[in-house]
Amino acid sequence: MNEKQPSDALVFFGMSGDLAYKKIFPALQALVRRGRIDVPVIGVARRDYTRDDLIERARASVTEHGGGADPDAFPKLTKLLRYIAGDYGDPQTFVRIRNELGAAERPLHYLAIPPSMFPIVIRNLADSGCTRGARVVVEKPFGRDLASARALNETLRKTFAEESIFRIDHYLGKEAVQNIVYFRFANSFLEPIWNRDHVESVQITMSESFGVAGRGAFYEETGVLRDVIQNHLLQVVSYLAMEAPSSTGPEAIRDEQAKVLQNVRPLSADDLVRGQFRGYRAEEGVAKKSTVATYAAVRLFIDSWRWYGVPFYVRAGKCMKKTVTEVIVDLKQPPPVVFNEARARNGNYVRLRLSPNIAIGLGARTKKPGEGMHGAPVELTVADYSEQGSGGRMEPYERLLGDAMQGDATLFARQDVVEAAWAIVDPVLQADPDLYEYACGSSGPPEANELVQQVGGWRCGE
Ligand code: BG6
Repeated sequence: MNEKQPSDALVFFGMSGDLAYKKIFPALQALVRRGRIDVPVIGVARRDYTRDDLIERARASVTEHGGGADPDAFPKLTKLLRYIAGDYGDPQTFVRIRNELGAAERPLHYLAIPPSMFPIVIRNLADSGCTRGARVVVEKPFGRDLASARALNETLRKTFAEESIFRIDHYLGKEAVQNIVYFRFANSFLEPIWNRDHVESVQITMSESFGVAGRGAFYEETGVLRDVIQNHLLQVVSYLAMEAPSSTGPEAIRDEQAKVLQNVRPLSADDLVRGQFRGYRAEEGVAKKSTVATYAAVRLFIDSWRWYGVPFYVRAGKCMKKTVTEVIVDLKQPPPVVFNEARARNGNYVRLRLSPNIAIGLGARTKKPGEGMHGAPVELTVADYSEQGSGGRMEPYERLLGDAMQGDATLFARQDVVEAAWAIVDPVLQADPDLYEYACGSSGPPEANELVQQVGGWRCGE
């Protein structure tokens, strides 16, 4: 199909679920507000809602998560909403979807359902004539490992062409993550230092002060490596490390991401420290003797010309001291031949704060007032520039849903990128290495400090 043609209907499977409630209704209201969507939105789920029930749920959702029901946009949204209650295994459900689609010829099917349901839903969509001219959006996780990710992809590819498949990783829709690419390639001062000659190490921290928040059963199936490292954080690594793309076109950027991840050495147990917060095993849906990690710190090496020998330390954890996602690119120290002072570690760096606020900092040293030539660290910071600009900030799901409707796949994960990311974590997924307990509200297990000892410890997100 012509990629430029916008989808003319949205069919959302899983409309009574958590994702729809927390993210999708608010995104839809925002899209309506900006005039980016004006097509039927057909919710599908097993729950026996009426259309009025759905509208009330949408209202509750935007009230709680979308800044309130917009007096102008919300009524417009309600006019677009339809609902079909039905079993995903029942062909009749899909006949009704086809009827509801009416004259629509290019629907977007959004599968916010367990991956185990994909084959049956896709088959029923195809058999009922709902896949002609259609696009499909799938939620992460894309499989549980490399083999299952490939199998999942085969299921999708039987019916959809790669350019019609949109694999959502909401990190790619974040302004701050997009800014990594922009900041790197819109400025000339970074490029000369952005390589193994000048960079000592790179750290990425995603710490969350909350636990598994009622998602114990889901978390038991995923654990931190599958939940956020294989996808969100490796996407961040690829943006930080990639070569300049030939354009901002979808394939150009994703080609460069794939090259980076294909050059990352597969993880070994020596490059990984796993942790579990105290109390996790008492969460609902969690096994009493669970060995699932809620924290992981990994050391990655990218065997490319630019990055050979530079360690990338990535850590993520639940129930940590604070909620923050941040990158620090540490530069090598200057030669200690001019000033007679103890060598200060980590004096020069680039800090990219990705959330909760968006900030950029450049670490430097300046002279302390006084007779001697002694210095102190300073940071040149641009704090929270996120509200600047006339377009205003979009939440990731608004941005990504709008892009998928337009057929723009730039900010979606391509299959080769997904597979390269699985290939990195695959060797340690089955291995079940040591698991260290850590206290809630801490910085994770102290054992993870050894991983970064040679670069002066964890500094980002602290
Ligand atoms: C989700 C994970 O993909 O990302 C969650 O499943 C995690 O466990 C969340 O909390 C973090 O997203 P954000 O946008 O709040 O940083």
